[in-house]
Amino acid sequence: MKQSAARQTLAIHLADEAATTALAARFARTLQAGVVIYLDGNLGAGKTTFVRSVLQTLGYEGRVKSPTYTLIERYEAGGLQLRHFDLYRFRDEEEWESAGFRDEFDGHNVCMVEWPELAGQLLPAADIVIAFDILLQGRTVTISAFSNLGEQCLNTLHA
Ligand SMILES: Nc1ncnc2c1ncn2[C@@H]1O[C@H](COP(=O)(O)OP(=O)(O)OP(=O)(O)O)[C@@H](O)[C@H]1O
Ligand SMILES: [Mg+2]
Repeated sequence: MKQSAARQTLAIHLADEAATTALAARFARTLQAGVVIYLDGNLGAGKTTFVRSVLQTLGYEGRVKSPTYTLIERYEAGGLQLRHFDLYRFRDEEEWESAGFRDEFDGHNVCMVEWPELAGQLLPAADIVIAFDILLQGRTVTISAFSNLGEQCLNTLHA
């Protein structure tokens, strides 16, 4: 998981859960096939809340469960294939291959990864990192782009 310097960064205060879901709804509309997104932030910071709102905005109507135990959940919505990882319980590097996780990063799937640091060097680099900080009230979120694809998404978010 090598990461170069961010090309562009956007910091936003999210006063409450509704602000998190509203930002995720805007972000959903910027997504393109193949984008790799890391979601950083402590337990309960809002990573899954964000992904759930992205999926719902794209039209997914089922339940969006946290992949805490399954490590991955797969979705199709809004004309995209999406993969939601939660690597909090990931310990076994061999499982990365055997479970087919490497194959999910195929330049086509949108991959959203909670706890990316737990995959060590196995994980492909992110196009976008969304980092949540827990405040006494609300959150701050910092969205950073690390590639052309990531910058395209951020530019659409600004627009
Ligand atoms: N901007 C916000 N201000 C205050 N509370 C928020 C905000 N956004 C989300 N929350 C709340 O914070 C909690 C976030 O839980 P969530 O499961 O999304 O966290 P997570 O980052 O995925 O944690 P984990 O690492 O355990 O998977 C929820 O209870 C949600 O209501
Ligand atoms: Mg989560």
